Amino acid sequence: MTDDDRPDSGSPGPVLVIVPTYNEAGNIGAVVSRVRASVPRAHLLVADDNSPDGTGRIADELAAADDHVHVLHRKGKEGLGAAYLAGFRWGIERGYEVLVEMDADGSHRPEELPRLLGALDGADLVLGSRWVPGGRVVNWPRSREALSRGGSLYSRLLLGVPIRDVTGGYRAFRRTTLEGIGLDRVASQGYCFQVDLAWRTVRAGFRVAEVPITFVEREHGDSKMSRAIVAEALWRVTAWGVGARLRRLRRGRR
Ligand code: GDD
Ligand code: MN
Repeated sequence: MTDDDRPDSGSPGPVLVIVPTYNEAGNIGAVVSRVRASVPRAHLLVADDNSPDGTGRIADELAAADDHVHVLHRKGKEGLGAAYLAGFRWGIERGYEVLVEMDADGSHRPEELPRLLGALDGADLVLGSRWVPGGRVVNWPRSREALSRGGSLYSRLLLGVPIRDVTGGYRAFRRTTLEGIGLDRVASQGYCFQVDLAWRTVRAGFRVAEVPITFVEREHGDSKMSRAIVAEALWRVTAWGVGARLRRLRRGRR
């Protein structure tokens, strides 16, 4: 990081965009160059879980050619949550003030990143949101949209989080937010990691802003969404919701 990567007054500080990858060889090059074009001062960290398709090697080549691109090689597939946690730690240790989550497959358009970063002015966490006015999804089958909307609604009702798109994965955190929510105790691995972090942020009293995004379904490679990931989300969110209610009840009786 150089002084050029530290913005002038007003904006929140050095930015690290973390991109978790598992078999994204057909996508990683495009997403890296789009981020570099969209927010030239931002750095990127590719967090690769030893992808069999060679994504990690491609990322190494991109990093060798550009001092704003970095790679974190992990030993094997441990889920999106673990990759982000490792990425956050990497970035916090190196002095980044804003840590962004972005998918590698082009679904989170890098061209919208300036808008997310701008909204950090009045917030501690900015969520790119599909389910607020102005937000939308392109090329998703009905079934996937129903799953995502349903998952968001279930989480919102059960946990009482006032967020429309609580499972979304295009986000900008202030470093201070991540430090304030106890990352050491996050156990979620799959996509419920996103619900977990949003809920912790709300409970810790941080300000959350949702900005509309257009989520574009990937053209290359496959989604890693699976039955196991949905099952993990369902049982964890249910357990969190029931646990929180029981704690409230017990407190009420004393
Ligand atoms: N390192 C690593 N390890 N990366 C992973 C893993 C893993 O085990 N699993 C998935 N990823 C990466 C993918 O390579 C991609 O860059 C990103 O995480 C998102 O994975 P996708 O498989 O493309 O997710 P999706 O499109 O089905 O789901 C999107 O929507 C969900 C909610 O509706 C994502 O934005 C999720 O974050 C979001 O929760
Ligand atoms: Mn995707």
